[in-house]
Amino acid sequence: MDRFHIRGGRALKGLVRISGAKNSALPCMAAAILTPETVTLHNVPYVRDIITQRRLLEDLGATVLTPELRTHKITAAHIELFEAPYELVKTMRASVLALGPLLARFGQAKVSLPGGCAIGTRPIDLHLRGLEVLGAQVSLESGYVVARAPASGRLRGAEVNFDKVTVTGTENLMMAAALAEGQTILNNAAREPEIADLAELLNRMGARVRGAGTSVIKIDGVEGLGGAEHTIIPDRIETGTFLIAAAITGGELELKDCVPEHSGVLIAKLREAGVEIEEINRSTLRARCRDGGLKARDIMTEPHPRFPTDMQAQYMALMTQAEGRSTITETIFENRFMHASEMQRMGARIGIEGHTAIVEGPTPLTGARVQASDLRASACLVLAGLAAEGETVIERVYHIDRGYEKIEDKLRKVGADIERIRESVAVNSEQESSAPVIA
Ligand code: EPZ
Repeated sequence: MDRFHIRGGRALKGLVRISGAKNSALPCMAAAILTPETVTLHNVPYVRDIITQRRLLEDLGATVLTPELRTHKITAAHIELFEAPYELVKTMRASVLALGPLLARFGQAKVSLPGGCAIGTRPIDLHLRGLEVLGAQVSLESGYVVARAPASGRLRGAEVNFDKVTVTGTENLMMAAALAEGQTILNNAAREPEIADLAELLNRMGARVRGAGTSVIKIDGVEGLGGAEHTIIPDRIETGTFLIAAAITGGELELKDCVPEHSGVLIAKLREAGVEIEEINRSTLRARCRDGGLKARDIMTEPHPRFPTDMQAQYMALMTQAEGRSTITETIFENRFMHASEMQRMGARIGIEGHTAIVEGPTPLTGARVQASDLRASACLVLAGLAAEGETVIERVYHIDRGYEKIEDKLRKVGADIERIRESVAVNSEQESSAPVIA
């Protein structure tokens, strides 16, 4: 299992290029199932979840070509299998994004139920209920969701009210509705930029989706979709992670190829906390710590456009270095504080009360051996390691490879002392053993 060795205490300085958004590329890749023609995606990040999604598409029978590292040409002309198997879904929950498109185009789909994961129970009941509203028959068979379209072979447009905001649920329904008969209205839809990005791709393919990015999305179903070319939006979570990397190390970073308006609430909060963030132009940000240091500021995670749960762990690392007491409340996932106990091992003073973490700062962090538990928790530990005195060893960094493109290379280029130690010992972890290594 690979691990990172980080010797902290260096101020990061320089330029970082932000990669494409994993959470946009995953649904856009799934959308290619909706058409027999070729969908070309640019700016697809080179991360492990993308490799897993590619494997899923290829297992289904699609052809995926990568003429360039970050360009994927997906042709789902001959789909032979309508199933996302347990082996893939358990390593990446986003495989459930195959459900809507398979059902819409072929009238049938079988997708393994994902089960719980490190950050929460994460059911997909809202996806299933929404598909039922569109006329699908959904049953559970030996751990699999088996869905069938009505006898006509096509789903029927209808009004879907989500009880809770769900990102992939909204995406699944948007894709299913794109080929349904008649109009679908999604109420209480997720408003993430990734939803709008998927809608843009779908519309390029010939779909009629309006309102994506707001809480009401209207989709007029069409009989068929064609090929399209689309560039994936920049990753707002990678952007946020590097903004914090600048601040926590007392350095200065310029972030290129990002979209500042996708990180509005985070940027406002970081400014309140004492981080100087300058919007140089519509795709470039510069961040550094303001003289006078960091101040504790509370946050609560909520669906977009509020503070993203995917930045909660990284923000907690920053708050360990801020003056005063901050409270961090997690409302999206029930178990997303695993990084807190690892940071305590580095000297952080963090108490957990239910869904709230109370951080007392500033505390000098010292290097320790810690373990990553999920993608964003890994990023948090990297940030803590960069700020700590001495050496931090982070184990199980395969979590970070799922969603950050070559993070150690990007950090090293701006002055971090970070190194990946590769270990090719036999591993028990299914997640690592079944996944390709990203060099
Ligand atoms: C997406 O997950 C992201 N994944 C997550 O990113 C992100 O943390 C999450 O949205 C929230 O922003 C992708 O886009 C691939 P949800 P998703 O459905 O869609 C509950 C990362 O680190 N819920 O919006 O699975 C659910 O349990 C990851 O990149 C139901 O109850 O999240 C949670 O409490 C991790 N029933 C809340 O809703 C459902 O049917 C929001 O989950 C669906 C969700």
